[in-house]
Amino acid sequence: MTTPRKSIHGQWSGRMAFILAATGSAVGLGNIWKFPYIAGEHGGGTFVLVYLFCIALIGVPIMIAEVMLGRRGQQSPVNTMEYLASEEKRNESWVLLGWLGIVAGFLILSYYSVIAGWALSYVFRTGSGMFLGATADGVNSIFNNLVSDPEHLLAWHTIFMVMTMVVVARGVKNGLEKAVTFLMPMLFGLLLLIVGYAMTTGHFQEGFDFMFIPGKIDGNAILIAMGHAFFTLSLGMGAIMVYGSYLPKSTSITQAAFAIAIADTTVALLAGLAIFPIVFANGLEPDKGPGLIFQTLPIAFGHMEGGTLIGVSFFVLLVFAAWTSAISLIEPAVAWLVENRNMSRIYASVWIGVLTWLLGLGSVFSFNIWKDNTWSLPYLFKDANFFDTLDYLTANIMLPLGGLFIAIFAAWLMRESSSREELATWPLIYRGWHFLTRYVTPVAVLIVFLSAIGVIKL
Ligand code: PHE
Repeated sequence: MTTPRKSIHGQWSGRMAFILAATGSAVGLGNIWKFPYIAGEHGGGTFVLVYLFCIALIGVPIMIAEVMLGRRGQQSPVNTMEYLASEEKRNESWVLLGWLGIVAGFLILSYYSVIAGWALSYVFRTGSGMFLGATADGVNSIFNNLVSDPEHLLAWHTIFMVMTMVVVARGVKNGLEKAVTFLMPMLFGLLLLIVGYAMTTGHFQEGFDFMFIPGKIDGNAILIAMGHAFFTLSLGMGAIMVYGSYLPKSTSITQAAFAIAIADTTVALLAGLAIFPIVFANGLEPDKGPGLIFQTLPIAFGHMEGGTLIGVSFFVLLVFAAWTSAISLIEPAVAWLVENRNMSRIYASVWIGVLTWLLGLGSVFSFNIWKDNTWSLPYLFKDANFFDTLDYLTANIMLPLGGLFIAIFAAWLMRESSSREELATWPLIYRGWHFLTRYVTPVAVLIVFLSAIGVIKL
């Protein structure tokens, strides 16, 4: 029996609109800012390999499962889980999965917006020509000046949050589709250009080897690689579920998931190939942390032909990519307020926006006055400040946990007749997905969790 339900928030105009919006959610700071710096911190090679495995064996099956749950439920993740649990005659505490996602999205956006603020400020820094002919030291001190000044960071964080709230208040479907259609290919093109520059540095091979030649890795780094697979594909917190709920019934979910995962992974690998050669060409260390792209790419912009224009365009597109991701981070919460509290979208967006902005202050201060206010959690992290802690807890614990429960619900608790009907794909693909999501994915997530806390050794 098909569910006769339809989302009250409207629907995408078709398959392409969904793929674009979900790609907009997936491609963001995670690909261009986070992937290179965490790969750099964990020695490249093996880390990148583990990440790629996680995308293929964990990410894609969970993405299919998450979109499927969303489309079947046709509501915000909390209400979708309530509806599906009752449809499948399961315990009603499955709504907690929806809540876990809302909290994760709120926590992530609070720091995501601060970093997006850095990208915003770099549009103007690059535009002013201050990087022309700059040395690694010069670029480094420009970055340190920015992050050590809480007022500046606060201003940019505020601007970015307002931008996000405006779009969410208007409804995510207006304009997103058209904008993503031409901005994504442009971002792609610019990354290729920067990779082209990286090839002229004489250190391309070194950067390439750093990314792809396996070395040593420990359990915690494996958890970080897996957490990043969830983060970069926007999985485990309901963003992809809520986008799935706006998906018309006629669309193939499996093909869409492959397309999104491929686009997302390509952007991340290109970002790495653009950045690491610049790192080595300038005698920098790859483990600089969250400032990595801001301390390397400007060197390229300062030296390449037309660098100012290319640099400005690059940061504009990076802000845009962050924007389309940020929107999806609070959409589950806003959709819930509209459904359950009868609020208008505008009201709901302002509410959530203000709360997120407030929490973001903690991350603003993490790069200056609270930088050294750190603590440690045995096995998991050492000397983490507010920002580090939020980042670790959301990406490496909450998202994989959310994903694990999504896999369990979709492949163990949902009747096969329901998932088969919703996915409506070739029998072989269905079987493959079902097998992976039932056995491989949950076991892999559990093993990674256990190895991170030292229970097993990989
Ligand atoms: N996928 C986004 C990125 O890579 C971040 C994100 C995570 C967005 C979770 C939505 C949900 O930047």
